[in-house]
Amino acid sequence: MNRTDLAARARQAALRSYSPYSGFRVGAVVVDEHGDVHTGSNVENAAYGSSICAEATAISGAVAAGLRRILVVAVACIDAESVDGAYPCGNCRQLMNEFGTRWVIVTAGEGSDVRRHTLEELHPFGFFLG
Ligand code: THU
Repeated sequence: MNRTDLAARARQAALRSYSPYSGFRVGAVVVDEHGDVHTGSNVENAAYGSSICAEATAISGAVAAGLRRILVVAVACIDAESVDGAYPCGNCRQLMNEFGTRWVIVTAGEGSDVRRHTLEELHPFGFFLG
């Protein structure tokens, strides 16, 4: 799947966001080592700190399904003003780091830029126990 298709899938996932507190709908699509796709959206909570990012729900779903390598993560923040406001948080970058992610695709709403980065670019010197 190319970056335009992944961005479109991530935007679709954002429509299933549960974000009554921030009003900020985020969707994520991850591609595992077999080329299969897993989706997620942000899930908020009245106890704000219990909220879960879209990337975290997508990565958790893939891992719980038995996968251990996530090659690509695409994230779409459809309520962001532009792609500049759509980048993954530091915690999610570290979650990607754990499962060997190489590419990160970032976009906002329909018609916005779709950018591609390496995780190394967004999260250099990520933490490993070692
Ligand atoms: N959010 C994500 O889903 N991913 C990120 O990388 C950053 C932030 C969500 C969490 C919260 O539901 C909303 O965006 C506002 O912070």
